[in-house]
Amino acid sequence: MSTPVKVAVTGAAGQIGYSLLFRIASGELLGKDTPVELRLLEITPALKALEGVVMELDDCAFPALAGVQIGDDPDVVFDGANVALLVGARPRTKGMERGDLLEANGAIFTAQGRALNDHAADDVRITVTGNPANTNALIAMSNAPDIPTERFSALTRLDHNRAIAQLAAKVGAPVTDIRRMTIWGNHSATQYPDLFHAEVGGRNAAEAVGDQSWLENTFIPTVAKRGAAIIEARGSSSAASAASATIDHTRDWLLGSAQDDWVSMAVRSDGSYGVAEGLISSFPVTTAGGGYEIVQGLEIDDFSRARIDASVAELAEERDAVTKLGLIG
Ligand code: NAI
Repeated sequence: MSTPVKVAVTGAAGQIGYSLLFRIASGELLGKDTPVELRLLEITPALKALEGVVMELDDCAFPALAGVQIGDDPDVVFDGANVALLVGARPRTKGMERGDLLEANGAIFTAQGRALNDHAADDVRITVTGNPANTNALIAMSNAPDIPTERFSALTRLDHNRAIAQLAAKVGAPVTDIRRMTIWGNHSATQYPDLFHAEVGGRNAAEAVGDQSWLENTFIPTVAKRGAAIIEARGSSSAASAASATIDHTRDWLLGSAQDDWVSMAVRSDGSYGVAEGLISSFPVTTAGGGYEIVQGLEIDDFSRARIDASVAELAEERDAVTKLGLIG
């Protein structure tokens, strides 16, 4: 067997971790023939629970799982990591202001950015799932000056998948008929799921739907507020679907996206589509060989422009807030 790929996962004893780890270990991230070594990071009080999860991983006897290491020190856990899935984050608790949340997560993602910078493998690729995902990725990236900026990304694939599912249900098509879905901007309620460039069975999705009111008043808010709807129904936030999207995002990045299609990833803006350079914003991207390219040349009409601008303005505000806190240079 080849040398195992070291996959680091933070927040490994959490809800998302409980779904994600088993899917990675079963070969859904890199294929059943690629051995993986899991490197699991948790805060000290959660290590005991994590030991229980590791017992369950052992009990699955996954052929591709070459080893598991756990710990609470990112310098040790990230050592030699080829892939880092940053899932663990401080949730917003009662009485916490937005600034407090950014600050609490800032402390986590500055430390993890530095640890990745100093200890990860040269080919490391980093996916941030923990919220606020885009800005957490920006903080980690800014604290890892030796890692090329195109190795950092944040997850908007769950929003992308939600948008595909909503569209498929509306037009009565299987999800496999939907291509070229795009989420623009922030992974937040301001995100913009774009049907004007999506396709259903090769036909423009906005035309196939033919209902601007549904698009504006049902589709966009349903996708943007789906996380809250799941909390309302389930009593806790989306976990299995977030794990599934984290796999989809990272697998496509490492192994390549489908021909004639693209995926949504939040990556460092190079100024494309008027998004301020340096923000981690969601774009349509194609991926191959562990790299990505932002899809160029899409026509953006006034309706889409206003929504992209609103979400990007929120990202700029978050960036300004963490700059003021001294979390990024
Ligand atoms: P959870 O609260 O069940 O688990 C989070 C885990 O992270 C906990 O076990 C906690 O001990 C750990 N943790 C906290 N600080 C840490 C640190 N410094 N180092 C390592 N581990 C640390 O939360 P859940 O449901 O697993 O969600 C994780 C994150 O993912 C949350 O921030 C959530 O908002 C976000 N999320 C993002 C989505 C997206 O589409 N981008 C979708 C759903 C959730």
